[in-house]
Amino acid sequence: EIEVIREASAMRSWSRKHRRAGRNIAFVPTMGFLHEGHLSLIHHAKAYADLIVVSIYVNPGQFSPSEDLSTYPSDFPGDLLKLSRSGIVDAVFCPSNLYDYQHRHHAAEPSAIARPPNDGTAGISCLDDDDDDDGCGHETWIRVGRLEQGLCGKSRPVFFRGVATIVAKLFNIVEPDVAVFGKKDYQQWRIISRMVRDLDFGVKIIGSEIIREADGLAMSSRNVHLSPEERVKALSISKSLFQTKSEAQGGQINCKELKSSVVGKITEAGGRIDYVEIVEQESLKPVEKIESPVVMCIAAWFGKVRLIDNMEIVL
Ligand code: PAJ
Repeated sequence: EIEVIREASAMRSWSRKHRRAGRNIAFVPTMGFLHEGHLSLIHHAKAYADLIVVSIYVNPGQFSPSEDLSTYPSDFPGDLLKLSRSGIVDAVFCPSNLYDYQHRHHAAEPSAIARPPNDGTAGISCLDDDDDDDGCGHETWIRVGRLEQGLCGKSRPVFFRGVATIVAKLFNIVEPDVAVFGKKDYQQWRIISRMVRDLDFGVKIIGSEIIREADGLAMSSRNVHLSPEERVKALSISKSLFQTKSEAQGGQINCKELKSSVVGKITEAGGRIDYVEIVEQESLKPVEKIESPVVMCIAAWFGKVRLIDNMEIVL
């Protein structure tokens, strides 16, 4: 039987109770609309702990006003069913608003909104730095320096500060021993690992492999917004990643040439490139030749959907 927990204080009490009883806790943070990728993280987590907590929270702090907060898919009943069918999840933390400090101590007051109002800007207006007083007043943000600058950080300038901050908040609420992140969001995984190291969080961070559809498309909650035609075209991303890997292993180590071939294939398929990069696996620094373990990272738009994917390449 899964425990559904909505209040931060109740979540922390739950964790502390179980830790006092000698059990350790693995944590898998998500934004819901769960798929096999999320479920694989949960199964991976089970190898590290007695109890598993999954959070479902669409974090307004990691979306900019022009992004897809208002259309981010959700299906809480479906998610709950998948989690209970897994048979290994002990608690689901699904707070209504983790930035609503005024109402935090009125736990009895039912919150009518499942997430902040989404009229394009209202939900996140209380998270802008430049907003003088909106009654919400979140002022503290975590920045993970250089690791935030490249790749997704270029086109999504507030994304990683939002991710790092919400993950820090969730760690402080759930107090897990271990947390599992997907390598699908490679930069996110590296940023969280670095934050944990730099700020001495007592959490072990585990990276978990990308789960793909049978045809290669990396699973993502956002795939539901692809039309059938766009979905076929989007296969150019994973196909070119697999091809790059085999070309590199066949001796082509010149990154400029590898990247331009990928840009060509995705553009030809009708995708709009955000970036194609080959970077060192830990530092995420771009390289010119593949001489050490690297990861090729791609972000591209198909219609209104921005997709990301990547492939680790070790020669
Ligand atoms: P979300 O996109 O829901 O992803 C939750 C976790 O599932 C992340 O660690 C992500 O990398 C992992 N994941 C998603 N698709 C995957 C796939 N195809 N294979 C393997 N793992 C996959 O990432 C977030 O939410 C948020 O930024 C969050 C960390 C919850 C902070 O708000």
